[in-house]
Amino acid sequence: MDKPKVVLGVSGGIAAYKAGELLRRFTESGHDVRVVPTASALHFVGAATWSALSGHPVSTEVWDDVHEVPHVRIGQHADLVVVAPATADLLAKAAHGLADDLLTNTLLTARCPVVFAPAMHTEMWEHPATRENVATLRRRGAVVIEPAVGRLTGADTGKGRFPDPAEIFELCRRVLARGVPEPDLAGRHVVVTAGGTREPLDPVRFLGNRSSGKQGYALARTAAARGARVTLISANAALPDPAGVDLVTVGTAEELRAAVLKAAGDADAVVMAAAVADFRPAVYATGKIKKQDDQEPAPIALVRNPDILAEISARRARPGQIVVGFAAETDDVLAHGRAKLRRKGCDLLVVNEVGERKTFGAEENEAVVLGADGSETPVPYGPKEALAETVWDLVAARLD
Ligand SMILES: Cc1cc2nc3c(=O)[nH]c(=O)nc-3n(C[C@H](O)[C@H](O)[C@H](O)COP(=O)(O)O)c2cc1C
Repeated sequence: MDKPKVVLGVSGGIAAYKAGELLRRFTESGHDVRVVPTASALHFVGAATWSALSGHPVSTEVWDDVHEVPHVRIGQHADLVVVAPATADLLAKAAHGLADDLLTNTLLTARCPVVFAPAMHTEMWEHPATRENVATLRRRGAVVIEPAVGRLTGADTGKGRFPDPAEIFELCRRVLARGVPEPDLAGRHVVVTAGGTREPLDPVRFLGNRSSGKQGYALARTAAARGARVTLISANAALPDPAGVDLVTVGTAEELRAAVLKAAGDADAVVMAAAVADFRPAVYATGKIKKQDDQEPAPIALVRNPDILAEISARRARPGQIVVGFAAETDDVLAHGRAKLRRKGCDLLVVNEVGERKTFGAEENEAVVLGADGSETPVPYGPKEALAETVWDLVAARLD
C-alpha cells in the first residue's frame, strides 16, 4: 500500500523548530511527508533540516521545478495538509485565498482534510482579524486547533502556545483515519470530564478512585479532530494535555461541579466520563490525622456529594443540549445501566464492566451505549478512541 501523503506546512513562528518533532513522528509511523515552509519559516529552521528529515526537496516558491507544476501537484496528491505552526499571517492568507508562495498555493489546491496548528502571542490570537480568519477557515471545514496556554516567546505567558507536537500528531492521525474532509462537530462546543475526583480527608490523605482519565482524554482528542471546540475538565489525570482543547483542572467533586456548570452554559453536548466520588469525608481535618499507638483509628463519616450528571440532565443549559453519562459496573451491568439512565435523565449512558484489561487505567475498553430512546449500541473490545468515536457518532446524530 502507498504511504499516506502528508504535507507539513511550516510558517514563520518561533515554534517552527518544534515542527521537526512532528515531522519525525509522521515519517517514523509510515507517512510520506513533504515539507513546505514559508520563506519566513526558513529564518527559524533551514531548508537543509526539512529536506534531510523528510527525504524530499524543499522549496518555498512556485518557481522551482516548474516542469513538475508543484504549486498544483503537491496539494492535489496530499491525503492531509497540516500547517504547524500556523502564523497569524498564514491564517489570514489562507482565509482570503491568497496564493503568493508554494504553501498558500498548496492550501488552495488541496481537497483533503486540512489542519492548522496556530501559535502566536495572545494579542495576535485574540485580535478580531485573527478571530474572523479562524472562524472562516473552520466554516470551510478546516480543523483549526486551539493553541495551548503557557509560556510564549520571551518572558510572557498566555494563550497562543504551540501544543505538544506528540498531541498534534495524535490529532492528525485521527483526522487522517476518518478521511472525512467535513469535520461533523465543527461549530459545536462540547464539554468532557475526565479522571477521578479526590476528596480530601486531611492535608495528606484523600478518598479517590482508579480512573486514569484515558477515556475522557480520548473523547476530548477525537472531538477536537472532528472540529469541535472542546472544554476538557480534568480531575487528577497524569496525562499530556491534548492538542486543541481548553483544559480546566479540578480536584474534588464540588470543583468539578462548578467547572461543568460554568462550561455547560453554551455547550451543545456534555460528556461526563470522569469518575466522580459519590461520597466525601464529612469532616476535613486541617492537621494530619495522627496514629495513636494504643487506640484504633476513629471511623470516617461520609456525606453525599452532589449528583452532577442528574443535575445537568435536569437543567439543560440550552435547548437540545445532549448529556452523556458513564457507568462502570461490576455485576448485572446492563440492568444497572438501564436503571441509571432512567434515574439520571441523560440522553446516552456508556455502560462498561470493570475488568482486568479494560476500564480503569487500560488502553482498551468495551461497552454498550444505551440511549434514552431505547437504543443499544454495543462497542466491541478495542482502543478507547474507538469507543470515543462511537459516542461522538451518537451525539452528532442527536445534534442533527
Ligand atoms: C522572532 C520572531 C518570532 C515570531 N513568532 C511568531 C509567531 O509565533 N507567530 C506568528 O504568527 N508570527 C510570528 N512572528 C511574525 C512572523 O514571522 C511574520 O508575521 C511573518 O511575516 C510570517 O510569515 P509567514 O506567515 O509567511 O511565515 C515572529 C517574528 C519574529 C521575528
